[in-house]
Amino acid sequence: MEYSAFSSDHGKIRKLIVELSDSHKNEHELRSILYNLQKRMILHFYREETYVFQMASTLVQHAFILGLETEHAGLIRLLDKILSYMESNDHERAMDRIEGLSRLFTLHCIREENEIYSVLKDRNAIDGLVEQVKYKRVPRNWQCAVTKKYDRK
Ligand SMILES: [Fe+2]
Ligand SMILES: [Fe+2]
Repeated sequence: MEYSAFSSDHGKIRKLIVELSDSHKNEHELRSILYNLQKRMILHFYREETYVFQMASTLVQHAFILGLETEHAGLIRLLDKILSYMESNDHERAMDRIEGLSRLFTLHCIREENEIYSVLKDRNAIDGLVEQVKYKRVPRNWQCAVTKKYDRK
């Protein structure tokens, strides 16, 4: 099922993850896909945590949203790990983690589409939300909620 711009974000991010699994890509290409993926994922998570989850918070259980936010932090951490394996030329480990990233991201999106976006769609809240976040950029040094809470350095 498709729920507007947020779903199309899911699709674009998925496509990048699939590209990573293509063994014909050279190291330079992989790295550039990884950085692109990181940028898109952070923007998407920022928009969700700041606007979408805020709006959904009166409609779905808090624990469910907390679960999604925990997954955001996990996905970003996993991507950081993959980048650091790439930096140290440990391709086997990097590819192994890419598989995990792909699995987790797919499940995460299914949960969001079924429990968040479908509910907002039923309330006709999606279009306004898309309009609201369209030009929002990630503030400097933004961290996802769970990372901010637990990763005090
Ligand atoms: Fe999400
Ligand atoms: Fe999402």
